[in-house]
This record gives sequence, structure tokens and C-alpha cells, in this order.
Amino acid sequence: MTQDELKIEVAKAALKYVIPETIIGVGTGSTANFFIDQLATIKDSILGVVASSIATSNRLEGHGINLFDLNEVEEISVYIDGADESDQQLNLIKGGGGALTREKIVAAVSKQFVCIADESKLVKVMGNFPLPVEVIPMSSSYVKRQIIKSIGGVPVLREDFITDNGNLILDIHDLNIEEPQILENKLNNIVGVVTNGLFANRGADILLLGSESGVKTLVSN
Ligand code: 5RP
Repeated sequence: MTQDELKIEVAKAALKYVIPETIIGVGTGSTANFFIDQLATIKDSILGVVASSIATSNRLEGHGINLFDLNEVEEISVYIDGADESDQQLNLIKGGGGALTREKIVAAVSKQFVCIADESKLVKVMGNFPLPVEVIPMSSSYVKRQIIKSIGGVPVLREDFITDNGNLILDIHDLNIEEPQILENKLNNIVGVVTNGLFANRGADILLLGSESGVKTLVSN
């Protein structure tokens, strides 16, 4: 199976976590896009969706799926999104597509977070995938220096990229993330950082992994 075929299988499997007559959250990226295409087949069973990016809003709209602004919504039953890496505890790195801040906000409001990915995303220790950090533009050099001084790794400004919030992304290479929650908090404490792509304080509750032998389900403790 190709990687895309694995993503489609996992996107189909996620449909069973969609709760009828509720508002759900949907993430960003190629796996989330496959999920949106599947969601279109049952769109009349839900009230609608809060999207984590402009790209996701556009795709949902293209399918005629009802959209909600997060400020109109008190509760999201389930958030379904991909990831760049997951460890065995379902801590995640997200933000390869640059939508990390809105993704983190929607995940925070959601009762359950179901992460969907192909099995190449499951790792023992995260950090092989560069960790994205969204920063206010005027702070990018300062944040870069602070990361080098107090965190480690090699922060690299993502070229020709502006987030949906009008900010920049620093991707931190060469990390070995043994304590994801501590690192998530440390990075968020640097002035100028909007948020970072570690989802450890609010990791996934369920990880659906597409594999050659079928979709595997991992549940957080
Ligand atoms: C976007 C994300 C995506 O979930 C992550 O990059 C995974 O993308 P894909 O499903 O294309 O592999 O965090 O900001």
C-alpha cells in the first residue's frame, strides 16, 4: 500500500468516532484532507465543524459542510487531525503544515482528540521531525537565540512562510525529546513565542495508525 492509501484507510476508520448531532473539530494536512473527504459522506449527521486552518475551511466549504467559528461554540465533541510524529504515550509533534496554533486551540476545546496517521509517524523518541514554533515576526531573531542558549537544537526560520495568524515559524532540528511536556512549557515561556508544535499537555486520546496489516488503535493511559 502507498502512504496515501494508508492515510485513506485511517481516515475511513476515524468516521466511527464522529458523534452524530454534535460539532466536531477538524485539523490540517493531507491525512486531515482525506478525512474531510470521508466526512462529506456523512455530513448531514453532524451539526458542523470548527476548522483549524483556512485551507481546511476551504476544503470543508467545497464539500458543503457547515462551518462554525470557535467563538460561537462551547463544546467540540471530538477533534480529528494528523500528526508529524507520535511517541508511545501519544504525545505529538504537529505543525508541519504550519497550523499548529489553531490546531492546539481546537484540540484544547475538544472533549476527545483522535489522531490519524500512517504508521511511519510512530517513533520511540520524538525529535527527528523538526519541531515547529510559531513566533511573532519582530521576535524571531531573539527567540532563535534563546532556543540555542536555553533549549538546544538548531532553529531554522521556515522560508517564504506566513501562518494564518500572520506569524513566522522556526523549525527546531536535531532535538531528542525525552520530556515533551517540560519542553513544551519551556518553549512557550520564551517571550515572542505564540505556541509550539508539541502536543504533550494535551496529547491525543486515541491514535489510529494505518499499517499494511490494517488500522491499529492506540489509547492514551
Ligand atoms: C499541520 C499538521 C499536520 O497534522 C501534520 O503536518 C501531518 O500532516 P500530514 O497528514 O500531511 O502528514 O500538524 O499543521
